[in-house]
Amino acid sequence: MCSIIGYIGSDKAAPVLVQGLKRMEYRGYDSVGIATFSDNQILIKKGVGKVDQVNSTSKLDTLSGNIGIGHTRWATHGGVTSANAHPHSSSSSKIAIVHNGIIDNFTELKKDLQQKGFLFKSETDSEVIANLLQYEFDQTKNVKQSMLQTIGQLVGNYSFVAVFNDGMIAAARFHEPLIVGIGKEGYFVSSDVLGFVGHTDQVIYPDNREFVIINTRGIQMFDFDGNPVRHQITKISKEFADSYKGEYAHYTIKEISEQPGTILKAGHNTKIELDLVANLIKQAKNIFITGSGTSYNAALVAKHIFSKYAKLKIESLISSEIPYSPNFFDNQSILIALSQSGESADVLESVNIAQNDGTKIISIVNMMTSSLANMSSISIGLNCGPEIGVAATKSFTSQLAVLYQLTDKLCGNCLGLDLNEISQTMSKTLLDHSKIIDIAKQLKNVSDIYILGRGIHYPIACEASLKIKELTYIHAEGLPGGELKHGPLALMDSNVYVIIINPYDSTYANTLTSAHEIKARGAKIIGISDKPSDVYDFWVQIPTIGEAFYSLIEIIPIQLLAYYTALEKNADPDYPRNLAKSVTVK
Ligand code: F6R
Repeated sequence: MCSIIGYIGSDKAAPVLVQGLKRMEYRGYDSVGIATFSDNQILIKKGVGKVDQVNSTSKLDTLSGNIGIGHTRWATHGGVTSANAHPHSSSSSKIAIVHNGIIDNFTELKKDLQQKGFLFKSETDSEVIANLLQYEFDQTKNVKQSMLQTIGQLVGNYSFVAVFNDGMIAAARFHEPLIVGIGKEGYFVSSDVLGFVGHTDQVIYPDNREFVIINTRGIQMFDFDGNPVRHQITKISKEFADSYKGEYAHYTIKEISEQPGTILKAGHNTKIELDLVANLIKQAKNIFITGSGTSYNAALVAKHIFSKYAKLKIESLISSEIPYSPNFFDNQSILIALSQSGESADVLESVNIAQNDGTKIISIVNMMTSSLANMSSISIGLNCGPEIGVAATKSFTSQLAVLYQLTDKLCGNCLGLDLNEISQTMSKTLLDHSKIIDIAKQLKNVSDIYILGRGIHYPIACEASLKIKELTYIHAEGLPGGELKHGPLALMDSNVYVIIINPYDSTYANTLTSAHEIKARGAKIIGISDKPSDVYDFWVQIPTIGEAFYSLIEIIPIQLLAYYTALEKNADPDYPRNLAKSVTVK
């Protein structure tokens, strides 16, 4: 939701922080700020906008000092204003903090601190951390004690970094990500390794309920009871070097283009786990699968292929609905949790609920060091590398690639899955973008797009509609083909565009009939198919592949269409408005 970073070392802190925030901007990008410690005082610059914008107007990277903290924000409490942007300093300006997460009891804490004479300058929940730390530091004159006292009063989920005006940095982790980087020229704390990836590949992953204190001499780590803790230094995967756009204009198009390669890595270093997982699934009394957003759409595909090919009954559940729905979790069941980030609060909460009922958790996750991976009995890696574009693209097809591998194992290789063949077929969909660019020009001024598919193509229609909404801000809706006549047909007129997902498979004939019914009402038809038809106003040809695997192919031209339509509308495809990549709040 937000990104936090801290640096202490021999380099000038401000440029290091600004560069790190730029790479983590996908986590939140409505405002940005940094604070440095220089000449015995804390200096702060912040503003509304993306990192480059604010930096060019406010010159964040010119702040002096070798110690500092920084933040990009995705607003939860308080509007998008400069006053609400982080860092927040304590009343006396002797401590400044950056925070990711939500402090649930901030109203009570704020009232109490105000009564003690502390002043507040923002509407955020986060500012209480700065004043609380200040209050406790004034009492104890000790950074460790003030951290312990502060943590003891905070209710909610958070990670925060504080800079003290004696040149120390302290950071705490409670159900939000925090990573420590150990570089030759200094130490880093960050929400994501991308915050310091150009500086070091040596990292420590603090556990939940731990905090770190860093000064120029070194680093100390403690648990929330104040006991010292030690962790091994881990070397991060070289895949993080992929976190640059290279020759691509945007991360989104880079990530769309990577898919023929990334599906081949999905679950590839976990072959044993895939067999193990298949066995566990076979033995389970009930199989549930959950996720949010795109990951939920992948769960819908899983429901289809598990039941159609492996003849297994599986219930797909929207993670955010699990707390409010009756469920049948028990100790003989399995919950498969899908998540790119492994940090979505809704997914973690649903996993918690299932775990409390004794259900075994298997996660399919890209970030193998995430909270979800830690909570699971078994984690299968997507291994698709960092996905920076806020809209999920390559992680979706990697999720499908894992789910197809599992299905093939469950049905005794009935699918004859050959990911190399699928990868080559996928590559063909990426060869020529010209037709899609032409259609994007047409869609630019459209206000409603419907996407229609039957059977397995319906979850793909849902995923397609999510991509169009997020990237283009055009209203889009996925429809199951047969439901058209039960209501949505009333919406069809000459202002509407309908994307028909219609590969030449067992759904083809009925879906073509739906296309004719829509066309008769004047709507424009975009056909995604390997077979041409007069009914299509625009035909986007996809290559022919085995019936089971079209889902992996047909989503690609729609991802491209969403991307190019965003460009036509001058929307930033990497950072859609109001969204954040990793939704760590409920
Ligand atoms: C859609 C998108 C979101 C995420 C959702 C879950 O393009 O990016 O809908 O899919 O927030 O995120 P993860 O998979 O990280 O749990």
